[in-house]
Amino acid sequence: MKATAFAPVNVALIKYWGKRDEKLRLPVNSSLSVNLTKMGTVTTVAWVKGLKQDEADERMIKHLDRIRGLAKINFKAKVVTQNNFPVAAGLSSSASGFAALTLAATAAAGLKMSEKELSRLARLGSGSACRSIPNGWVEWVKGKDDFTSYAKTIFPTRHWDLRILVVILSQQEKKVSSTDGQELAKTSAFFKERVKGIDQKIIKIKQAIKEKNFREIGVIMEEDCLNMHAVMLTSQPSLIYWLPETVRVIQAIREWREQGLESYFTINTGQNVFVFCEPNNEDQLVDKLSHLRGVIEVRRERVGLGARLLA
Ligand code: PMV
Repeated sequence: MKATAFAPVNVALIKYWGKRDEKLRLPVNSSLSVNLTKMGTVTTVAWVKGLKQDEADERMIKHLDRIRGLAKINFKAKVVTQNNFPVAAGLSSSASGFAALTLAATAAAGLKMSEKELSRLARLGSGSACRSIPNGWVEWVKGKDDFTSYAKTIFPTRHWDLRILVVILSQQEKKVSSTDGQELAKTSAFFKERVKGIDQKIIKIKQAIKEKNFREIGVIMEEDCLNMHAVMLTSQPSLIYWLPETVRVIQAIREWREQGLESYFTINTGQNVFVFCEPNNEDQLVDKLSHLRGVIEVRRERVGLGARLLA
């Protein structure tokens, strides 16, 4: 009763920020993302007869309880998990982590689950984890309840070869997790304003992805990222996830863009920056970003598959 799964980090172009239901992790708005090819989490779960305690952290144990309930087993589990990137610094480790845990733990328990069921279950562990289950370009439809809130592929991995550069600025861990930060979303006067515009933005960005209109997706993506950070900045208490280096990257991207080198940024709950570009500009951007003060590493990524079993 053992299985190993890999799940990718996913990067949202339209962000999830604010829950309608804390327990079921139902979002206030739908969101849209791409999976990365390399960055992610590998998790092995072994259900062991006679084991006294789960070998996992508290949040994972809660998730294992859900899976024990579904599989009607009472074994405890040994969980070994490895991220190939710095954790808790705005690179979405909870998304890849809970997607990999969901797939490995259900497979090890012998459960046969559809992609939709896996996505719903991953959502209960960490909202954005539901988007690391399906392949490629993914939409998490907010839905009405537990059954209707899940993520699905809207365009396959190979639909459009965009490049995503992951700009790692500091190994520092953030002070407020996404889960805690999300609870503050509704205290921002700007929250309702952001949410009002999202359905329209999703329609527009899906059309732009279909037509491979890079400028259009870039503009919408950046705007939504800044809208989400405006909600964070105006929450009570206020959340500031950026470092001075984050702002330096933002400004450099805008300056280069004015000079004709086109790329667009997005940022999650942390200091690091994801930069989207077309293949012909990738090398030049990697070179320029790597030379900015405070940049530790730039990783090259593409649009990738969702969670899968390795063993
Ligand atoms: O799934 P959580 O609770 O870690 O929230 C993720 C929130 C953002 O990364 C900031 C946005 C998103 O949609 O990925």
